[in-house]
Amino acid sequence: MARRKLVYEGKAKILYEGTEPGTLVQYFKDDATAFNAQKKEIIDGKGVLNNRLSEFFMMGLARIGVPTHFIRRLNMREQLIRQVEIIPLEVIVRNFAAGTMAKRLGMEEGTPLPRPIVEFSYKDDSLGDPLVPEEYIIAFGWASQQDLDDIIALALRVNDFMAGVMHGVGIKLIDFKIEVGRVWDNDFMRLIVADEISPDSCRLWDIESGRKLDKDVFRQDLGDLADAYTEVAKRLGVLPSNATHMPKPTLIN
Ligand SMILES: Nc1ncnc2c1ncn2[C@@H]1O[C@H](COP(=O)(O)OP(=O)(O)OP(=O)(O)O)[C@@H](O)[C@H]1O
Ligand SMILES: [Mg+2]
Repeated sequence: MARRKLVYEGKAKILYEGTEPGTLVQYFKDDATAFNAQKKEIIDGKGVLNNRLSEFFMMGLARIGVPTHFIRRLNMREQLIRQVEIIPLEVIVRNFAAGTMAKRLGMEEGTPLPRPIVEFSYKDDSLGDPLVPEEYIIAFGWASQQDLDDIIALALRVNDFMAGVMHGVGIKLIDFKIEVGRVWDNDFMRLIVADEISPDSCRLWDIESGRKLDKDVFRQDLGDLADAYTEVAKRLGVLPSNATHMPKPTLIN
């Protein structure tokens, strides 16, 4: 049997050549990394949860007319996606101050922002994905002004969808990051949502208790990451509500 061809291995996912031209298979690993991969761990079951959750969000977006790369889920850890030319930017949307914004501006985490704020960082691990102004993006040719206007509109639609879905299950969407890619239909270029949307790329706080249900649980050692992601999946009905995350058996003396 022919082995499929590896296209790219990243920190959290692996891309393989897809079955049809213009497609890729996206495999979700259990690896968790933070602080530009200085902190690393294997979290059993994370890949399975993120594959499911990203499918859930991307399918929901498609239903309201937001184009994404998602085609279909193949198995527990893999989904078929449309191959795009990734814009080398992390598109971040913030509703409440947190993370680097809170730090940079000396704001308390959770402070509501006057309106959703979209910001961009340049995707380059060796530089630590630095924040870049639109002026740089246009001057260096990573995207045009028209592209940026389209990307901002896309990101705000994703924000409204995600914030609404999360609010419906008692979760506050603090912020999130997406990646956007170009696809061509003949000579017509379109920008679509790519990569993943999961608790790895969002900040999610329980509305009642303030409990964090995202990758900050790992960054800040707040408990079991897979438990937090399982909670999100259960509330969204992505997993049966009686499903529990089964930790590895531990040896008892
Ligand atoms: N539809 C797509 N077509 C092509 N590339 C994609 C698509 N969706 C996501 N990617 C890219 O696939 C890779 C996914 O792997 P992963 O998220 O593990 O990378 P990473 O370690 O975060 O590194 P990177 O800095 O490249 O994002 C990313 O480089 C992402 O930009
Ligand atoms: Mg990534």
